[in-house]
Order: sequence, then C-alpha cells, then structure tokens
Amino acid sequence: MQEIRELLHDCTLWAKEAGRVQLEYFRSSNLDIKTKFNDSDIVTAADKVSEEIIISNIRKKYPTHSILSEESGTSGYENDYRWVIDPLDGTTNFSSGLPEFCVSIGIQYKNQTIIGVVFAPYLGELFYAVRGEGAFLNGKKISTGNNTDIHKAVVTTGFPVDKDRTTDNNLDNVARVLPLVRGLRRLGSAAVDICYVAAGYLDAYWELNLHEWDVCAALLIAEEAGAKYEFFRNDRNISVVVANPGIMPQILPLLSKTANK
Ligand code: IPD
Ligand code: CA
Ligand code: CA
Repeated sequence: MQEIRELLHDCTLWAKEAGRVQLEYFRSSNLDIKTKFNDSDIVTAADKVSEEIIISNIRKKYPTHSILSEESGTSGYENDYRWVIDPLDGTTNFSSGLPEFCVSIGIQYKNQTIIGVVFAPYLGELFYAVRGEGAFLNGKKISTGNNTDIHKAVVTTGFPVDKDRTTDNNLDNVARVLPLVRGLRRLGSAAVDICYVAAGYLDAYWELNLHEWDVCAALLIAEEAGAKYEFFRNDRNISVVVANPGIMPQILPLLSKTANK
C-alpha cells in the first residue's frame, strides 16, 4: 500500500494550499458567482481555482490515481486509489462572507476511505483522520460527545438544493426534531457539520440529497472519533445521519425513510 504518511502529508498540504487561496477571495468583490442547478446551487471562482490546485498536485505526484471532484467530475485512471474532493464545501456561506466553509479531501483504497482531511481556512481548523488511528483537530485527538439525552442535544441539518420544486425538503424531519432538542442549527457546510459531531461540539447532524464529495472525508473523521452514522434513505442520493452513540437511537426514528409527499 502506498505510504499512508506521505498521502496524509500531501493531502493536508494541498488542502491548506487551496484554503490559502480561498482566503484571498473571501469577502472580496471578484467571486464571479455562477448558478448551477438553480439559484441555491452556486459556484465561484474560488471553487474552481481550489479544484485546479488540488487536482494538478495529484496529477503531478500520483498520475495514475483516480479522482472524483465536485466541479470536474471523474478523471484519471481506474486505480485502487481514488481521491474524493469537494474543493469548497459551503459555497453559499463563502459567497455571503460567512466563515463556515472548508476544503474536503478523502482518499479511498479499494473502495474504503483510508484518509480524510477537512480544512476550514477562515476558522483555522484542520480535521484529519487515518483509518484505525483516531481523528484529530489541529493535532489534538478528538472524540464525539457523550450526551445521551436528546432534550439536551444541539443538532444541525441542511436543506436540499431542489427545495424549490419538491416538498421532500427536510421540513418534515425538522418539525419532528425541533421541539425535542435544545438547539437546532443550519451551519451551511456538510463537512464542517460532520466534523463538529466528531469533535463533540454538536450531538447530531442529518441531511438528505448529499453527494460523495460532501461526506467522504468527514465520515471517516466522525467514525474515527467514535460517532455513528446511518444512511437513512436510499432514494435521495446520500442521506445520512451522524450522531454521538447516545443520541443516534433517539434521532434516527424521527427521520423519514421515504419521500415526504
Ligand atoms: C453544500 C453544503 C451545504 C449542504 C448542501 C451541499 P457546496 O455543498 O455542504 O451545507 O446543505 O447540501 O451541497 O455546494 O457548498 O459544496
Ligand atoms: Ca459540498
Ligand atoms: Ca463544493
């Protein structure tokens, strides 16, 4: 197997390089915001430049590796190693000048995620994990919270980009969860949300209609920190709930397993 330390080092280095460039664009006037699926689905110049930085580095050092990245899709060769990249997760926050956004890079070997790096440059938070070796935030080991009472839980969620054209938009889940929890948040970056469950800052996170690049790195970080996750639907891309072990049995039954009509 390719040297894991070297892969982690490179992954971290390139996430930081992309993050540094994001800060040059952040709260500037040259974002060049473009819509994709609809007005809720956007991309900026920073997303594209970040992606170019990460992919060109991979291409130079690991020319045969396979890559899946949000803005450019699949590239490279069929290879046991596969990089799963969200060059900028939280673009709506980023484009509004809000601080929760990050670079997310997962590395898979034979379809299993072995390395996850999530770097939030404005917050100065670098989360990472290697399978079997625990999860870390800025070099300190993290572990998920131990709250077992949903009434004392602070949880977060997100809403699907097609919320303008379907009632299957997560409001049914919100209506069931909101009255029971201490606090419900919408932070705006799936990867940061999941890492915050990993670090014990949040007790749970759920969202439907996500993609591999949103969750690949962060789910390994959550798992290595002791959090649980479940894919609660199979008809809406990736629909996942991540929670500390004490909260999972209380939140999972509150989430719809099929489309809300
Ligand atoms: C989005 C963010 C957001 C989530 C959306 C994602 P993007 O990713 O993670 O929190 O609610 O579902 O698409 O578009 O900013 O990379
Ligand atoms: Ca994303
Ligand atoms: Ca993105």
